[in-house]
Amino acid sequence: MSPIEFTIRTARPSDAAALAEIYAHHVLHGTATFETEAPDSAEMGARLARVVDARAPWLVAAAPDGMVLGYAYVAQFRDRPAYRMTCENSIYIRDECRGQGLGAALLAALLEASTVAGFRQMIAVIGGGEPGSIALHAALGFEHIGRVRSSGRKHGRWLDTVYMQLPLGPGDSVPPEEEPI
Ligand SMILES: CC(C)(COP(=O)(O)OP(=O)(O)OC[C@H]1O[C@@H](n2cnc3c(N)ncnc32)[C@H](O)[C@@H]1OP(=O)(O)O)[C@@H](O)C(=O)NCCC(=O)NCCS
Repeated sequence: MSPIEFTIRTARPSDAAALAEIYAHHVLHGTATFETEAPDSAEMGARLARVVDARAPWLVAAAPDGMVLGYAYVAQFRDRPAYRMTCENSIYIRDECRGQGLGAALLAALLEASTVAGFRQMIAVIGGGEPGSIALHAALGFEHIGRVRSSGRKHGRWLDTVYMQLPLGPGDSVPPEEEPI
């Protein structure tokens, strides 16, 4: 099999239908997300707009013919203001394109873009403790920081949530330039 060709670029509003299609498979058949009803393209477009408004990165991997093969984005880890420099990532690859390097390339690009955006820590919240996702994050330097047992129930199974973390840029070695409080 010849290696898959793709380029990584910032997501655009016109990608919403492809994002919804990719995510729907993982909502309906996987355990990485604890959502159980697939959001439509209008909802995915709204999610993209919220990430863009927050000046956080949302990237896609696109084939030479323009088809979106996967995506990755970050959002602030939790809402309260002191979390502002910690982000949580999400990565979803079109099911038939998994295992061909797209996830690693998207995550590497996301680390760089999230650092540029000013985040200092990235947290991966891995639904179902998926071994492929744990291996991907470990390959890029994330450390295991915890497991919440049986925190989800989907497809008739109890699902753990595994947390992994990677410092970005200077991490916590120096304070940020601006301190609102
Ligand atoms: C997890 C996911 C993002 C990985 O993307 P991918 O394109 O399939 O992964 P890659 O081909 O880039 O693999 C990169 C590395 O991750 C690890 N990896 C990925 N899938 C793996 C699997 N099924 N088993 C073991 N290791 C795996 C390997 O270390 C691999 O490196 P190698 O090929 O040199 O051994 C993708 O499979 C996916 O969309 N899964 C469903 C949704 C999901 O779990 N998202 C993560 C939410 S936190």
